[in-house]
Amino acid sequence: MHINVLTLFPQMVEDALSYGVIGKAIEQGLVTVKCINPRDFAENKHQRVDDKPFGGGPGMVMMYDPLFRALRSIGQTAETGPVLCMSPQGDTLCQHHCNEWAQLPQITLVCGRYEGIDQRFIEAHVDQEISIGDYVISGGEMAACVVIDATIRQLAGVLGDSESAETDSFMTGQLGMPQYTRSELLGQSGVPAVLLSGHHQAIDSWRQEQAKQLTQHRRPDLLEGTSEGH
Ligand SMILES: C[S@@+](CC[C@H](N)C(=O)[O-])C[C@H]1O[C@@H](n2cnc3c(N)ncnc32)[C@H](O)[C@@H]1O
Repeated sequence: MHINVLTLFPQMVEDALSYGVIGKAIEQGLVTVKCINPRDFAENKHQRVDDKPFGGGPGMVMMYDPLFRALRSIGQTAETGPVLCMSPQGDTLCQHHCNEWAQLPQITLVCGRYEGIDQRFIEAHVDQEISIGDYVISGGEMAACVVIDATIRQLAGVLGDSESAETDSFMTGQLGMPQYTRSELLGQSGVPAVLLSGHHQAIDSWRQEQAKQLTQHRRPDLLEGTSEGH
């Protein structure tokens, strides 16, 4: 899979994706990530990428031209995969989005800054606006990294234990289960006895029941299939 990221802060994205399983997946070539800086495509004297909003108001807006040229430079077309723009005004990111994107050969993410992006770029070149939640952060880079991480996790060979994504929260329409491990300070105190029993079938049933109860208690919408992700 190949992921393009249009960003004014490529280093921020590259650094964030250099850790853990995601860093390893990139190193191993299971996925390639290319950052394109719209500033490199600003043809004006001071390489400006932002300007005052028409109609007045606070802040600056990312200009159409550098973004368009950056997108054109990577040969983006409808056939090469969707263009996703990070925006608090977009559809709320869900696991099912990432599962679908992980099936594609390429996606392109656009990171906004300032007060956002000229609406004409969004209307002409963006397939879907994606929000990571009902709050505003200062730029699309961290949102893009959330999308990229959650998508790369779904690619074959990325997670060492092939089962570990299957039991993740949201993968089976419910939350994950509680986990316990060795502690010198606590010993086995507080660990449910079944997990120490060695009975794999009993352990599986206990885990499934725990996941179900937790979901019923915290996210009944997932069981009813009424959450945005379903
Ligand atoms: C300061 S925000 C602009 C917010 C915009 N003025 C608004 O009220 O909708 C700058 C950029 O950060 C990104 N961003 C901020 N919050 C986000 C969120 N919840 N999800 C995804 N991207 C977000 C977007 O790319 C946005 O263009």
